[in-house]
Amino acid sequence: MSVTVRVPAKVNVQLAVGAARPDGFHDLANVFLAVGLYDEITATPADELRITCEGPDAAQVPLDHTNLAARAAQKLAERHGRPADVHLHITKDIPVAGGMAGGSADGAGALLACDALWGTGASRAELLDICAELGSDVPFSLVGGAALGTGRGEKLRPLEVGGSFHWVFAVADGGLSTPAVYAEFDRLNEGVEVPEPVESQQLLDALAKGDPTALAPTLSNDLQPAALSLRPSLATTLATGRTAGALAALVSGSGPTTAFLTRDADSATDVAQALLTSGTCRTARVAAGPAPGATVLGRPLPTPTTLEG
Ligand code: C5P
Repeated sequence: MSVTVRVPAKVNVQLAVGAARPDGFHDLANVFLAVGLYDEITATPADELRITCEGPDAAQVPLDHTNLAARAAQKLAERHGRPADVHLHITKDIPVAGGMAGGSADGAGALLACDALWGTGASRAELLDICAELGSDVPFSLVGGAALGTGRGEKLRPLEVGGSFHWVFAVADGGLSTPAVYAEFDRLNEGVEVPEPVESQQLLDALAKGDPTALAPTLSNDLQPAALSLRPSLATTLATGRTAGALAALVSGSGPTTAFLTRDADSATDVAQALLTSGTCRTARVAAGPAPGATVLGRPLPTPTTLEG
């Protein structure tokens, strides 16, 4: 018996970053949008906790107990007084260390898969609590859709989205470390009064309308200067996508993946093609958002209740 869970990647349509807090984290106004690139995590009973991974970037995924999927299984097992005797197999399609929450997706997916496999019956609140312990982006990987994350990004408020947005993601060679990008943000802002992070009402309105031309000018990422400082070549990738017809271009989260908002699915295909042939990225992927959060696959739909009798 095994359980497979599918989990989406995310793009930050707004990432407003405050000053470093005493605990080293940064307060955020983080508007997450889940997009249709997915990892799948399959949980199968085993003698002991074991992680395997397949996919084009599998070699870069740690298979030890630092993997968020392993930590998720351990945390759930500890809370419920049982062994974490599970084999977690990750089918990886989300870029590794790319700023699209691939590691967080695997943490949320493993948690949901183990809960279903072990029949733990953890409440949604308990699952979200464990997700927040695992990392700032992990709660959003569980819920998906679109949400405003405050605090360090873990306190979520669901957001209304009035349509599907079409994106292209240019995947760079190699990853960027999230702590390194935040440290570069701090370095670039030394001696500067960093304002409190606040969500943009214009951006939330454009999301609610489902209007890509209204959303495009409101996109922003305060980590972008730091990511560009560490990886200057990303500026060429951003310019290439803009020239090819993207409505807007920005670094996704801490990067180095770059995200391009397009008018529609056809335009996304054109921009992806231009990026692929430009040689300014390793690969380009199209995906639409919002996408649903972590989902157990192959679960029979609940039988509709009838009003008869
Ligand atoms: O929460 P998570 O483990 O994903 O964070 C990774 C690192 O990113 C943290 O150790 C910290 O350096 C940085 N970070 C931050 N402020 C946030 C989220 C992450 O400084 N709100």
